[in-house]
Amino acid sequence: MTTETAPVITIDGPSGSGKGTISHAVAAALGWHYLDSGSLYRLLAFAAVRESIALNDESALVALADRLPVSCQLPEPGDAAILLNGVDIAGELRTEAAGAAASRIAVLPGVRAALLDWQQRCRQPPGLVADGRDMGTVVFPDADLKLFLTASPRVRAERRYKQLKNIGKKVDLESLVADVEARDQRDSSRSAAPLCAADDALVIDNSDLNEADTVAMVLEALHKKI
Ligand code: C5P
Repeated sequence: MTTETAPVITIDGPSGSGKGTISHAVAAALGWHYLDSGSLYRLLAFAAVRESIALNDESALVALADRLPVSCQLPEPGDAAILLNGVDIAGELRTEAAGAAASRIAVLPGVRAALLDWQQRCRQPPGLVADGRDMGTVVFPDADLKLFLTASPRVRAERRYKQLKNIGKKVDLESLVADVEARDQRDSSRSAAPLCAADDALVIDNSDLNEADTVAMVLEALHKKI
């Protein structure tokens, strides 16, 4: 099996839709690789801030992407470090600030092009579960199964609220709802690879579904396809 023919499941959707958790669980159930593409955008934005590169300086960001020492095989969430110049920055990448910075650089077509190759190289046997915003529309248009996972903005903000409370952060639910809506607006209105379901994607609204039910739905959809 070559890189091009390894099977791919794409799981796209807005932040807080549970994509990361579901993608990770599906990859673990199948024994496949997992690509968290949002981490690439977060990592590049984080490195840019560290190097005082403006988040709208497209050519400097592209040059930075070309020299960042990132391999396609990102660590699995929760159990490994993401190293930048030898320092573990995994925790810092998950902050609201890193997410907002990632969403700002993600509007730049040059940045998206610079990250494309990294992502496509993750397609390796026995298979890949790729999680992001444009996995099914741009990065892996020939994916074996495309899913678009979503939930209402309030449900997504409530999930984030619980996560932040669990790690001892003081947050205001209404401002999280506003943040979620602002990020959705920016991600879906940009001209470069806007957030939208691929025409051939199966759309799952998991506002009222738990993790196990959502994973079961994805695996069932896969078994029907391949
Ligand atoms: O998924 P995550 O919240 O980590 O992504 C952070 C930001 O990176 C998103 O809000 C989005 O703007 C951008 N992103 C993207 N395309 C991807 C993954 C993430 O534009 N495939």
